[in-house]
Amino acid sequence: MKQLSTKLSGVPKSGIRKLFDLVGQRKDIISLGIGQPDFKSPQPVVDATIAAIKEGKGSIYAPTMGVPGLKKIIAEKLKKENNIEADPEKNVMVTNGGSGSIALAFAALFNPGDELLLFSPNFLSYYYVARYFDAKVVEAPRRPDFGPNIDTLKKLVTPKTKAILINSPNNPTGYTYTRQEIEAVAALCIEKDLYLISDEVYEKILYDGNKHVSPASLNGMADRVITLNAASKTLSLTGFRIGYLSAPEAMLPLMENYIQYTAAGANHPCQYGVMAGLEHVLKNPDYLDLVIKAYQKKRDTCFKRLNGMGLSCPKPGGAFYIMPSVASSGMDGAIFSQKLVEKKGIAVVPGGSFGQFSGNNVRISYAIDDGLLDEALNRMEEFIRSVKK
Ligand SMILES: Cc1ncc(COP(=O)(O)O)c(C=O)c1O
Repeated sequence: MKQLSTKLSGVPKSGIRKLFDLVGQRKDIISLGIGQPDFKSPQPVVDATIAAIKEGKGSIYAPTMGVPGLKKIIAEKLKKENNIEADPEKNVMVTNGGSGSIALAFAALFNPGDELLLFSPNFLSYYYVARYFDAKVVEAPRRPDFGPNIDTLKKLVTPKTKAILINSPNNPTGYTYTRQEIEAVAALCIEKDLYLISDEVYEKILYDGNKHVSPASLNGMADRVITLNAASKTLSLTGFRIGYLSAPEAMLPLMENYIQYTAAGANHPCQYGVMAGLEHVLKNPDYLDLVIKAYQKKRDTCFKRLNGMGLSCPKPGGAFYIMPSVASSGMDGAIFSQKLVEKKGIAVVPGGSFGQFSGNNVRISYAIDDGLLDEALNRMEEFIRSVKK
């Protein structure tokens, strides 16, 4: 038989998906592995989706670029919450989740050999989706607190660099950029004539009074930035597979070319649900306050207890992840996570899944019930004690 696609066969199964499989097989496992919110989707979303199904929207294709009413609300949201000017028909499109937004951004930007610069560790999809579009990912190491080092970034820009990608608040580190850091990245893009991809799926999950800054709102950036977002994390709709993006006008026809022959649009009834969800959020800007307060408490617990066990980690400013180093256990992240799940039934993701500089780390997602989180941290502490004996 002739060889199947080497582009795809060279991609390892995502460490996170492997975890899904394992967690599915064993009943005793507490998973700190899955990046999924643990609160209920807002009721208006559920009602509007059911109504759309009853009206027959599931029997007909959605418009390729998205339902016009949803694109209009997205543009309103971008204006009000992100200070981004976007024409719903020229700059906005609905995608198949944040993952679909990433694929479309890469599809519109990259030619073979182009380089994409990002801080590492970072969300694993970027590395593999870049490969599908023959772009090379160049990893810049983060500071010890996981923040961006702009001088390092600058040194890695080459004539082939096409774009920088930032994700703040970040998966897997929880690092959240300050306004000054976003401005410094934007200034570098202008100086070196680069595009900027800004993945903002965790924009609302912020602690300690941190404020989200969208680079597309900064002077001189509107023509350079693709802003990616999704309903998944902030509306607790990971199963819907609805995302969206706003991009310079010239890019939308390219994205349309790509989506019409791959996905032919996004889930039709669910777009009505997300429309109701975004309307609900615009009317109730404090709707996530209680969830964030609860996450902040979990973040504080993890930060204190992990550092207390000798698994040192910086305090995350947002999202629901924390990324300790496990070097003090004498194991790397891969062995640590394998032994931890075997011996104590606690699933975490090896840091090596997120790039070349985090092999000694693991990623913990703390968006789970407080009691389970305490139990998981207790078992982890017992594990650390047992390996140090
Ligand atoms: C940073 C980041 N971007 C994008 C996504 C993908 O989001 P979605 O589930 O909407 O495809 C995720 C999911 O974990 C993520 O962490």
